[in-house]
Amino acid sequence: MRHDAEGEQLERLSALHVPPILTIVVPTLNERDNIKPLVALLDAALRKVNWELMFVDDDSADDTAKHIRALALVDPRVRCILRIGRRGLSTACIEGVLACSAPFVAVMDADLQHDEALLPRMLEILQKENIDLVIGSRYAAGGGLGDWASNRAWISQLGTKLARLICKQDISDPLSGFFMCRRDVVESAVRRLSGQGFKILLDLLASSSRPLRVRELPFEFRTRRYGKSKLDTLVVWEYFALLADKIFGRVIPLRFALFAMIGIVGLAVHMSILWGGLKLAALEFGVAQSLATFVAMTSNFFLNNILTYRDQRLRGWRIFRGLSTFYGICAIGATANVGIAFYLFNANQKWWVAGVLGVIVGAVWNYAMSSIFTWRAS
Ligand code: GDD
Ligand code: MN
Repeated sequence: MRHDAEGEQLERLSALHVPPILTIVVPTLNERDNIKPLVALLDAALRKVNWELMFVDDDSADDTAKHIRALALVDPRVRCILRIGRRGLSTACIEGVLACSAPFVAVMDADLQHDEALLPRMLEILQKENIDLVIGSRYAAGGGLGDWASNRAWISQLGTKLARLICKQDISDPLSGFFMCRRDVVESAVRRLSGQGFKILLDLLASSSRPLRVRELPFEFRTRRYGKSKLDTLVVWEYFALLADKIFGRVIPLRFALFAMIGIVGLAVHMSILWGGLKLAALEFGVAQSLATFVAMTSNFFLNNILTYRDQRLRGWRIFRGLSTFYGICAIGATANVGIAFYLFNANQKWWVAGVLGVIVGAVWNYAMSSIFTWRAS
């Protein structure tokens, strides 16, 4: 009885709407003028496929999300996730995939640089052959970088070699941003994904529990017509963060490692200011030490804000609130550091054991407290 009712409902629903077999996930950051042309190109390329398009926009300043929604009102294949206070190409792709239910998912850029004509062939391979993942490759024979400047091409090729550190498979373009797979391939790796930075494909390859069966299809990277590339030097940093996270992440959380590294930089800043204050400016020790502490805390705050917490960077007036909580937390951390070191030293520990343990306690305190009060995930 219940079954009949269910069957009837299903019939009614499928008459209304045929569910998509393919979701194309497209991360966007200031891509307003690319949205319409992209949908038109996909429409022309995927005539025989029932697809949907999942944009994931990180609150673009140019109203990209508004453009997407306007289109979605007339084209039900278009959908949009809007993320506020978040950044990151990889996490955008992951969340886009998780929000859909189609059995096949593709990831591609919004800026028309990837060749949508490859999509039907990618889908066909996944449906007919024993393949988990099809990659659009710039480096396979027949593919190309388009009009990339020679230094960017060089960096890209170096990055491709470094990918071997975390993915041993012989893949010509593991850094491609254009690929298609079954949704379950992402789902089964999703809890191990690092989500760092720009390179979601490499992350997926390195996080899967078994080597994926991969096919590569060559394509020529097109020239961007509207908008600008978001690639900057931070992307290189994020790439190293991804490699480090996949290599060491199980032992030390990546954020803590970054925080600690910046702590070491802060120590160098502190010592140079102290030295300069004493030797060059002839300040009193107490004054020079206070000045050095203040400058080191401030520079640590900004370095962490840009590097460690780049995905939730504080901007505008929130910088001042963040900075004042950071000063407060570090002051307590320093007191704890000195207090514990003193206690251990007096308890007959070796001087360097006492010193190192004091520093570790202070660093862990600073890290834990600032992650809650300074850069709380909003
Ligand atoms: N949601 C979101 N959040 N989207 C982003 C972000 C972000 O923080 N950063 C970039 N995007 C979007 C852009 O709007 C674009 O649709 C896509 O991600 C790629 O960004 P581009 O700035 O155009 O990158 P690219 O062309 O330099 O590099 C691309 O191609 C390389 C080679 O295939 C990327 O796909 C790289 O990952 C890829 O290695
Ligand atoms: Mn691009």
